[in-house]
Amino acid sequence: MRNLMVTGGAGFIGSNFVRHMLRKYPDYRIVVYDKLTYAGNLVNLKDVARDFADRYAFVKGDICDAEKVRAVVREHQVDTIVNFAAATHVDRSLMEPDEFIRTDVFGTYVLLEAAKEFRLERYHQVSTDEVYGEVLEGRSRETDPLHTRSPYSASKAGGDMLCIAYYTSFGVPVTITRGSNNIGPNQYPEKVVPLFITNGIDDRPLPLYGDGTQMRDYQYVLDHCEGIDVVLHRGKPGEIYNLGTGVETRNIDMARAILDLLGKPHSLIQPVQDRPGHDRRYALDISKICALGWEPGYTFEEALERTVRWYVENEWWWRPIKSGEHYQEYYRRQYEEREIAKPDANDK
Ligand code: NAD
Ligand code: TYD
Repeated sequence: MRNLMVTGGAGFIGSNFVRHMLRKYPDYRIVVYDKLTYAGNLVNLKDVARDFADRYAFVKGDICDAEKVRAVVREHQVDTIVNFAAATHVDRSLMEPDEFIRTDVFGTYVLLEAAKEFRLERYHQVSTDEVYGEVLEGRSRETDPLHTRSPYSASKAGGDMLCIAYYTSFGVPVTITRGSNNIGPNQYPEKVVPLFITNGIDDRPLPLYGDGTQMRDYQYVLDHCEGIDVVLHRGKPGEIYNLGTGVETRNIDMARAILDLLGKPHSLIQPVQDRPGHDRRYALDISKICALGWEPGYTFEEALERTVRWYVENEWWWRPIKSGEHYQEYYRRQYEEREIAKPDANDK
């Protein structure tokens, strides 16, 4: 493994992963292949382009464009694809599912075809704990059936199924990680944690869906990147690995913790109409990846503290995004009609 193609590498987790890999493996080369959608941002890779100019390249392209994917694999002598490229936000998948099915299912198929044709050493799919659907009790294991409930999770599950199919039918050496919710630097502020932090900084309401008792396993993005690195090097082809902390936090508690870190009042929390089909809880059994020698490095509190600090110190990164027309239009569409107060979440 020497020449990696990191698809979706200009996004939140992908850009953190590229930096991690180039720093850790001095003989690796990486070509980032990214369509630069609203969530992709070359600024995330500015330091990488400067510090690793001899081992890093960027190509703007769509993973659904088979010709271009093949050309990049050939030209850069790619031996490994790590696929982060996806439409990723559940709320957007409820408004506009098309892009999710196109990129997360068809795009994965295009990449798998390239992995097959060029006999790559590895194809790694970055997937999500959401494919298991909501888990009210216990923890999901990799062998559990998939019970997806949103267009996002359904399309990610489609990608996972294709990966397994290409391993079984054609022997493509595929691995999959199913990660829990990531937090950390460079996350687009439509996901809940950066949204709440940046609203809190500006004394604006934190729109909490429903009663706020839904739970997520929030992990620090660098833990996720290291977990993928471990699976690439020590994971077994054909295998799936859950990747998270194994600890869940209620949204209301996450919102309060953010406000405490910012020194802002809890009264900024504004309960709003719930997300349709909102999965109450995801919870992972992480014993399989831990058996490879990986473990989470950051607790929820440490991860949140670092994340809040990053957004406080890097307003230059998120202010232009939040003041842009694309974001403003989304925010109006997503939240204006929602501002209907629900039972008071602060009582929970
Ligand atoms: P992101 O939205 O920040 O980044 C996605 C990137 O993919 C962007 O750079 C975008 O430009 C690119 N992209 C989108 N469509 C593309 C296409 N058709 N062709 C090429 N590039 C395209 O997402 P993220 O949060 O960094 O998530 C990365 C991956 O990790 C996704 O596959 C997601 O499903 C998975 N994941 C995310 C989380 C999380 O909490 N964020 C948790 C588990 C798994
Ligand atoms: P999100 O960051 O969209 O991730 P996902 O739904 O993929 O887990 O949301 C995380 C949790 O936060 C989820 O339970 C929904 C909730 N949430 C809010 O309460 N308010 C918000 O404005 C958003 C975006 C999410």
